[in-house]
Amino acid sequence: MCGIIAAASNRNVGKLLVQGLHKMEYRGYDSAGIALHQNKQIAHLRTLGKVKLLEDKMIQEKPKSKLGIAHTRWATHGEPSEENAHPHQSKDRVYIVHNGIIENYIELKDYLKTEGYSFTSQTDSELIAHMLDFFLSKGNSIIDSMYLTKEKLDGAYAIAVVDKEDNSNIVLARNKSPLLIGIGTDEFLAASDPLAIGQLTNEFIFLEDGDVAQISAEGFTIYDSNKKEASREITKIDISDQAISKGKFKHFMEKEIYEQPQAILNTIDGRVGGDDVLDNIFGLGSSDIFKNVKRIQVVACGTSLHAGRVAANWFSSISELPTQIDYASEYRYRNPHVDEDSLLITISQSGETADTLAALRYAKEKNYLSTLTICNVPTSSLARESDYSIFTNAGPEIGVASTKAFTTQLAALMLLALSLAKSRNMNPKLRTRVITAMRSLPDTIEETLKIKDTILEIAPEIANKDNALFLGRGIFYPIAKEGALKLKEISYIHAEAYPAGELKHGPLALIDENMPVIALAPESEIAEKLVSNLEEVKARGGTLYVFSDPSISMDLKSGKLINMPKCDFLLTPIIYTIPLQILSYEVALLRGTDIDQPRNLAKSVTVE
Ligand code: M6R
Repeated sequence: MCGIIAAASNRNVGKLLVQGLHKMEYRGYDSAGIALHQNKQIAHLRTLGKVKLLEDKMIQEKPKSKLGIAHTRWATHGEPSEENAHPHQSKDRVYIVHNGIIENYIELKDYLKTEGYSFTSQTDSELIAHMLDFFLSKGNSIIDSMYLTKEKLDGAYAIAVVDKEDNSNIVLARNKSPLLIGIGTDEFLAASDPLAIGQLTNEFIFLEDGDVAQISAEGFTIYDSNKKEASREITKIDISDQAISKGKFKHFMEKEIYEQPQAILNTIDGRVGGDDVLDNIFGLGSSDIFKNVKRIQVVACGTSLHAGRVAANWFSSISELPTQIDYASEYRYRNPHVDEDSLLITISQSGETADTLAALRYAKEKNYLSTLTICNVPTSSLARESDYSIFTNAGPEIGVASTKAFTTQLAALMLLALSLAKSRNMNPKLRTRVITAMRSLPDTIEETLKIKDTILEIAPEIANKDNALFLGRGIFYPIAKEGALKLKEISYIHAEAYPAGELKHGPLALIDENMPVIALAPESEIAEKLVSNLEEVKARGGTLYVFSDPSISMDLKSGKLINMPKCDFLLTPIIYTIPLQILSYEVALLRGTDIDQPRNLAKSVTVE
């Protein structure tokens, strides 16, 4: 994880570097630092905690510089501390920022110690500075030193380097961690994410694995993995201020919850026509490829995996295809058997999640028919490396807790289920029914958002508990899991999800007046069975909060029955997610946690 940014300009860059770090805080926020070239010396400032503290230090010390690098950290090796914060330096000459993990760091550190280098941090990153210094001290140029260093490193990295002996250039290197160059006006920039520098340019060059590059105020040069000068395509991306500001909301998470009607509209827009899904919306030739699909494998992490679990049900009921689902972090290690004509689907908001990317790369070596990604970031590694893709078009999601990314993933996955069915000439009436229901989804979500008033009544009852149980059955079990994940990650309340029928096989022992039970009870063929499961909770004194269809009647002793708007059953998982997001948000607000940046987490998990 971590966010890195670099700038070579004809103006002072301190402020723009810190502003860029603020926009990348979603990547990590336990410490931050900056190294600014000041001709004869480097101003090196690091702080424990959020970027704001670094900013305060910058305001006090007012360092001036036209060339610098900066970093916001999510600790992997070594606790959050000032010593472990980047930039790391070697002999007050080489200053580096790094995002990624150096897997063979112990061996390389031991070697560098024998060469007389001493380490001041517990990180894997510091050795990069020493290794560069080692090769520079042997008379190599900084570019050659970077290639020699790269030869030694195993793992993932995006690196930016300032050399005190050179006040014009910043050197960059990328391997399996995102890094891009931004073409500014009279300045060149680099960052982990276009968001960081989107106010300064709309022209970006995405470096490829193995690339080494150099930026100065006047220009840039890119070398490929064979040290040959390379030209790379310029990508135009417009990042509006509005998309990355909180507007009238207290938190990004809150804003992102309330953006969902528009976000879902953006996912569907231009992809359905008449009463069916349009052809080839996953890329040219995708509709033809879908004709041959016989089996699906989904890999993803966290919330995105929950979206995959819901979709598995749709692939079965709408597209009549069997689906296997794996945590991306587990998939490669179970020696997966790949049946002929299998389609690999990755799901990811960021498109940079290291486990998911590694799973895709592994799968590409297997005999999959094709690979497809559902992703929110068109320029991401997953998008670039998959054969087919669909972008959820949710707009930037900044809050660490995924909200609009999840519901738009579900909408995109529904489009996929429909497309697979269409290519295989299946279920035309069902397709028409679902498309009709999808068109009214934004309005139904708008109506669902009004549930906030009821949630405000129950949030205080949950905010003072230490545990919570979420129950759902069938297609609602993954939604219950998503509800539990949301609650635990932002309110720090321990929450678990169960298929309601499993309760009596163990978890029922946990039920007492201190265990709120949040249940999802839409109208369905197993609604009665679910109600019986909830009676078991009631009989043991549990407090039930049941989100349900008005047709379901239950007499609760304590807690609340909350009516949900009507919608086509196949799309109800999207609707029932909304109150769980609002509930987590309101509970976290009452508990005073850091909602957008919960402890120990980061938005984009670019380490395995
Ligand atoms: O960017 P991705 O969707 O690949 O991220 C995967 C998970 O890290 C992510 O969904 C995480 O579980 C959410 N932030 C939880 O709200």
